[in-house]
Amino acid sequence: MTMSVVPAKLNESKDKLVLIDQTLIPNEEKFLELDEAEDVWEAIKKLRVRGAPAIGIAAAYGLYVCSLKSEATTVKDFKKDFEEIRNYLATSRPTAVNLFWALDRMTKRFEKEENMSLAEVKEALLDESEKIFREDQAMGKAIGKHGLTLLKPGMGLLTHCNAGGIATSGYGTALAPMYLGDEKGYDFKVYADETRPLLQGSRLTAYELDKAGIDVTVICDDMASQVMKEGKIDAVLVGCDRVAANGDAANKIGTSGVAILAKEYGIPMYVLGPTSTIDMDTPTGDDIEIELRDEEEIGNGFGRRTAPKGVKAYNPAFDVTDAKYITAIITEKGVIKPPYKENIKELF
Ligand code: MRU
Repeated sequence: MTMSVVPAKLNESKDKLVLIDQTLIPNEEKFLELDEAEDVWEAIKKLRVRGAPAIGIAAAYGLYVCSLKSEATTVKDFKKDFEEIRNYLATSRPTAVNLFWALDRMTKRFEKEENMSLAEVKEALLDESEKIFREDQAMGKAIGKHGLTLLKPGMGLLTHCNAGGIATSGYGTALAPMYLGDEKGYDFKVYADETRPLLQGSRLTAYELDKAGIDVTVICDDMASQVMKEGKIDAVLVGCDRVAANGDAANKIGTSGVAILAKEYGIPMYVLGPTSTIDMDTPTGDDIEIELRDEEEIGNGFGRRTAPKGVKAYNPAFDVTDAKYITAIITEKGVIKPPYKENIKELF
């Protein structure tokens, strides 16, 4: 059983983007229907939709539905409106490469169909956005299958942030082997890092695994070392927002610390994601832009002061795990082992 909630989809008449507002989970399951570029931008920026693949899907659908509102009567004028929305959505969040990847795919498809009628161009854009969604579903399942080959029944698994169904279109990436294993009766014991400051682990990973009937225990981020020391963790599984060509991987802040701990305790550290998250134009982790977020997310988390007003807070949303701490990178095409630079190049 996987996540039953699809984080980003089209409504029945295919003219609105439907999102479950992830900032409200687990307290409320509220769906938003959007067709204004500003609202789609805000939803990505504020993490109403989040997780690298889901951001890409929402951006593709969002670009399509927002373009439909253009009053242009020629393909040339429509393209101007389309490009304006695309460029605007591209400024919403900088780290997850899937955002740019999905917007690029939509743009390339537009360019391919440019000589067709306006109605046909719109039809093609709808088709491309739906393809991005469907391909992501297939990728999640394949990532899960490859990931499962590295795991054994009864294992204790640690994950950080949320790289599950709610961050993708169904199976997720890091959580995909957990769902597939569960279908085979693997009986994993999953530990979910709470993931400060926005609690994607305790709010979202615990929510979706619990809903699927998978054994999940929430721990605070600073408990990971102790839980590893107690022998409760056999493997760490995390998602990724951008993997550089040398295998360095950006993921939610805190991931690199977990990776360093895992190495110390001799626990394998797996990074799972679709090949669309590998950015061959980014040579190393140092070239990945790390999103800096509002200080208030730390000092005034969830509407309550957790640090004195006026005290500075530093809030990078992601960190980069050096490739040397990663045991394997698992994509829909299979398991990539070190040396990453050579093996990633070969894959592409
Ligand atoms: O800030 P977020 O919640 O978008 O960060 C999400 C992550 O870091 C995920 O692990 C990553 O995007 C992979 S989701 C399959």
